[in-house]
Amino acid sequence: MSEALRISTNRDELDTALIHRFLSTQSTWAKGITFALVQKSIANSLCFGGFVGASQVAFARIITDYATFANLVDVFVLPEYRGRGYSKQLIDAVVAHRELRGLRRFTLATADAHGLYERYGFGTPSRPANLMEIYVPNIYEMAVAQ
Ligand SMILES: CC(C)(COP(=O)(O)OP(=O)(O)OC[C@H]1O[C@@H](n2cnc3c(N)ncnc32)[C@H](O)[C@@H]1OP(=O)(O)O)[C@@H](O)C(=O)NCCC(=O)NCCS
Repeated sequence: MSEALRISTNRDELDTALIHRFLSTQSTWAKGITFALVQKSIANSLCFGGFVGASQVAFARIITDYATFANLVDVFVLPEYRGRGYSKQLIDAVVAHRELRGLRRFTLATADAHGLYERYGFGTPSRPANLMEIYVPNIYEMAVAQ
């Protein structure tokens, strides 16, 4: 049986070096992001860390006003800890969080994990034509190249 995942929203417990390493080198969405930007994004978000023993193995970050809107980003489980249900435990904790209840809109973007989030009621936007964005997917790699 897998070791239990402990989930914490205490920023002080987060392993920012590990989060930066994953996001900047292994994620498909934040390659090249600097340590300073990861630090700032954590400081201004509601973060969920997943721990096995003393080691952080999972992460999710919520950008929110705690009143009307939230956006779920930067979800990952380290490769060697996948397939144990840890991401489901993490998202369980996110949707159960008392300050994320009753929001008018809760969004996320995913390339291929729709099945994971559908369990929690997320679906494709009901009116996609109404949504607009400024999107620069490779912005951190562009910054490195400059
Ligand atoms: C996606 C990710 C977080 C899943 O973590 P995990 O702990 O291995 O997932 P779990 O063991 O909790 O299982 C996830 C469930 O969602 C399902 N699922 C749907 N899409 C999935 C996907 N793209 N990847 C993994 N699981 C997916 C799985 O089949 C599983 O369902 P099951 O329990 O019925 O078999 C992990 O693979 C990861 O970190 N990937 C790289 C980072 C990433 O792509 N994150 C973005 C997600 S938007």
